[in-house]
This record gives sequence, C-alpha cells and structure tokens, in this order.
Amino acid sequence: MRPTTPPGPAGSGAPGAEVAYVPPLGAGAGKNDRYLALRRYVLALTEGEDDWLANLANAAAAIFDHVPGLNWAGFYLLKGGELVLGPFQGRPACVRIAVGRGVCGAAVAERRTQVVPDVREFPGHIACDDRSRSEIVVPIVVDGAVVAVLDLDSAAVGNFDIEDRRALETIVKDLAPRVDWGAATRA
Ligand code: SME
Repeated sequence: MRPTTPPGPAGSGAPGAEVAYVPPLGAGAGKNDRYLALRRYVLALTEGEDDWLANLANAAAAIFDHVPGLNWAGFYLLKGGELVLGPFQGRPACVRIAVGRGVCGAAVAERRTQVVPDVREFPGHIACDDRSRSEIVVPIVVDGAVVAVLDLDSAAVGNFDIEDRRALETIVKDLAPRVDWGAATRA
C-alpha cells in the first residue's frame, strides 16, 4: 500500500495540504483587487507543490474562474520548437502552434505580451474557439528563454488592457519558479 502523508493545515503549503476554494470578488470590485485575490490564490494553490502539471492546471482553473469575461484560459508549452497545448479551461483547442503563428506564436517570437483588442484585426489570428473576440498572451521566460505562454481569450472585444497585462505578467513571474519546465517541455 502507498504510504499516506497526513495533510497539513489548510493553506499551509505542506505537501498534501488542501487549499480552501477562493471565489472571485463580487461585481463591484476593482480590477486591482480582483487580481490581488487571484495572485494570492495561485500562490496558495502552488505553494510547496512541485508537480508541474498540477500547478499549471490549478493556475489555469483559478485564472479562468477569477478573470471576468473569459471563454478560454490556459498554457501552451514550447516543446521541440513548437507550442503544444497544455493545461487549460474552456472548449477543446488547437494542439500545435508554430512559433511566429497566431497571437501565441507572436508572443514567443517577440518575447513580449500581446494584447489584442479585436482578434479579427490581428493578421494570422488562430480561431480555436470562434466566440473569442479579444485575447492576451503572456510569454513565460526562464533563464532568458521562452518556455511557455499563458493565453486568455474573451468573447468581448477589448476585454484586456494594461492592467491585465501587468497583473498577468506578475502572476506568471510568481508561477514560473514553481514549475519544473524541463519536465513540462519535454517533447
Ligand atoms: N488564438 C490563439 C490560438 C490559441 S486559442 O486562442 C486557445 C492564437 O492566435 O495564437
């Protein structure tokens, strides 16, 4: 029988600890406060856990739950020179994206966040879900190299702005050291 580890107290970050569900803030809350709550939640969910799949899966789920107006949120991992679908929430999506193609591929090629207010005006946008009207893609850079991207889609035009960009870049920076990118990006 597999030895069991007693769970630590809620939110302690001890291996096996369960983190209590944190619901998104109510409709009256500002973006800054919403993202602060999300950032804390992602940190709590991944604290003390070194399984890359569990951490990316929980981060995708928390982001999808907390950021208003999303129809898709998740990760693409750079494996063998192309982006491959990773943990996400939303409708099934395109599996492989070449570097330089679409919004995700542009984020890798340019190594910077892409904020696309209207995907119909972005040449080469890849429509995995035809409800998507705006998109933000944040590259995840470790030791100077892109290892993955975080992709958020919304059915509303102009759902993302500079505040989303800053907050999501911060969340990605928090998350990056908690993921074994060697294992996550093995082709
Ligand atoms: N729209 C993206 C493709 C990924 S899906 O949005 C999930 C792009 O143009 O790269």
